[in-house]
Amino acid sequence: MKIRKAVIPAAGLGTRVLPATKAMPKEMFPIVDKPAIQYIVEEAVRSGITDILIITNRGKGLIEDHFDRAPELEFALSSKNKTDMYEQVVGISKLANIYFIRQKETKGLGHAISCARNFVGNEPFAVLYGDDVIMGDDPACGQLIRAYEEFGKGVLGIKKVPEADISKYSSLKVENIKDNIFNCTDMIEKPQTKEDVLSLYSILGRCILPPEIFDILDHTAPGAGGEIQLTDAMCELARTTGMTAVEYTGIRYDMGNKLGVMKAAVETALKHDEIGEGFKEYLKEIAASL
Ligand code: UTP
Repeated sequence: MKIRKAVIPAAGLGTRVLPATKAMPKEMFPIVDKPAIQYIVEEAVRSGITDILIITNRGKGLIEDHFDRAPELEFALSSKNKTDMYEQVVGISKLANIYFIRQKETKGLGHAISCARNFVGNEPFAVLYGDDVIMGDDPACGQLIRAYEEFGKGVLGIKKVPEADISKYSSLKVENIKDNIFNCTDMIEKPQTKEDVLSLYSILGRCILPPEIFDILDHTAPGAGGEIQLTDAMCELARTTGMTAVEYTGIRYDMGNKLGVMKAAVETALKHDEIGEGFKEYLKEIAASL
């Protein structure tokens, strides 16, 4: 079945990037001149997704406004003949069919995904974590969709993480099938001892899930951090049907931590049409003085 629906969970509290996230969602942090979540929606659209559900909560109204029309702004731009910017601004509201639902309590990523049940229905769907921006010519979500089409199982987007950091992530038991594609048969969220670490491969930011995940989430008990963990539900899938894992190409920026936010800004600014050259000069000056 063709994958045309995506879910973007964006209801986390963003405590690692406080105080910026006290009133402003981290998904709206700008990377130069676009909010993080717009890059994510654009990646989904480039991957063939037509319908997107964004999971929000109290205080995330800015996300809805960003994907809405903005009549006063559009009028001001068109009357000043700022055609390019007018088209960009209107274009954002036409990227895809975008829907919103609130996760009423912040009970974890697994719980957030279960809020998508009615939207998803009985189809496989993509999940793009709202704070993970992945830049690359071949959209990461599309790479996972191709693996779903080839192997017919749920797909995990993976990358290796440094050994010192694995306890903050998930750890997967994987066997290489070919190239950058693996079979995954087990996983654990936030392994706390060396024995728990299955490999340094971790799920980072993207997956494709079959609709069976919702029944599993219904009986998934709170795990690491007292939250209902999506990893725990996916673990049941991995152990029963198996899952495919793709070490996707592209650079991932974690907008949920301060260093990730800065790396995204600096690397994107260096490639930016309008400010790239000027920013490079500035950065060289700064670097020379370090
Ligand atoms: P994170 O754990 O990275 O986000 O969740 P967080 O909870 O905002 O982080 P900190 O620890 O407080 O800084 C991964 C993704 O799951 C979403 C987040 O918005 C993020 O996109 N999420 C997490 C939800 O939608 N609901 C939740 O209850 C938890």
